[in-house]
Amino acid sequence: MRPLSAKIGALPPSATIEISNTAKKMKQQGIDVISLSIGEPDFDTPDHIKQACISALLAGETHYAPSAGTPALLSAIAEKIGGENNVPCSPGDVIVTCGAKDAIYEAFEAVLNPGDEALLLDPSWVSYEPGVRIAGGTPVHHHLSEETFQVDDTFLEKVTRKTRMIVVNSPSNPSGAVFTDRSLRMIADLCIDHDLIALSDEIYEKLVYGGAVHRSLGSIDGMAERTITVNGFSKAYAMTGWRLGYAVAPPAVLAQMIKVQQHTISHPTTFAMAGGVAALKGDQSCVEAMRVEFDRRRQYLLGALADLGYSTAPAEGAFYAYVKTGGDDLAIAKQWLLEAHVAVTPGTAFSTPGWLRLSYAASLETLKTAVDRIRVLNGN
Ligand SMILES: Cc1ncc(COP(=O)(O)O)c(C=O)c1O
Repeated sequence: MRPLSAKIGALPPSATIEISNTAKKMKQQGIDVISLSIGEPDFDTPDHIKQACISALLAGETHYAPSAGTPALLSAIAEKIGGENNVPCSPGDVIVTCGAKDAIYEAFEAVLNPGDEALLLDPSWVSYEPGVRIAGGTPVHHHLSEETFQVDDTFLEKVTRKTRMIVVNSPSNPSGAVFTDRSLRMIADLCIDHDLIALSDEIYEKLVYGGAVHRSLGSIDGMAERTITVNGFSKAYAMTGWRLGYAVAPPAVLAQMIKVQQHTISHPTTFAMAGGVAALKGDQSCVEAMRVEFDRRRQYLLGALADLGYSTAPAEGAFYAYVKTGGDDLAIAKQWLLEAHVAVTPGTAFSTPGWLRLSYAASLETLKTAVDRIRVLNGN
């Protein structure tokens, strides 16, 4: 066979999925592995959301839908984004996608030309860099301060004539940092001064703790017309397997994203979109109940890690503790997996070697057992 795509050949596999697959294999061999490696709520999708999907399926909503999404879901999203996030939005500004991941992929495809640079703020989520590369762009990494995980003006040094986009993820996977108004304002100024498009991945917006406040980048003066706001249902409504997400984008960008969608996935599953409407329009107490439970686990895990002598990133949002190891994260993650049977994700996957990401989307019981195992392994 002649050589296949060099562009795809050069991509690393998803580190988070790789580790969780190894952990699954060990489980199949009868090893009692605790997996804290994947970003998936351990809760079930709330019943009223499932029921709406079942009703749509039984009512025959089994056909193609408009490529941007069903009118009902486009309206529900526009209402949510305009009302809750203060980003001006009408249904015609929205595209519904197969998960937020698909929205991010489409956004890179829609915006980037070969050679265009996209600025990533490290630690950055595993799929941003491959997404930029698939679209033919060049990822440029800027390391955020490991004290604050906020933006300071050093990121200006990474901006060149080729910079076209900046990717913003607040609350952050993996650091848990929530960008302050000051950080968001600095990002906005950068975008306006250098004519950049911002991709603001707000998938963890509902999961903030201890007084942290999430604010949408697109709500800042001058940013609505240059921000692609990405969000979805996976994390807030425990709907990872539904593959449902969305983006709100300026008209020219949205038109390009719709073309990518038309020629690839067509649209997300029609009856799944009915579940999305129920999620946004229904009672939101399920979201708060999950957040409260995540917070309980977060407080336990941060305390336990401090007792073990580890320092952690802010953990004000999302559901991860980002742990400073002071050592070789790949070797430590391997040791934890093979000797303590605890699967975590090395910081190298997020372009910050030396750190480990522990997901607290696991029961308190499970977290306690994991901590005990690490304590025994470390001999303290
Ligand atoms: C920061 C971030 N963005 C996007 C996604 C993708 O979410 P979805 O399941 O909606 O594709 C994830 C999932 O882990 C994530 O952590």
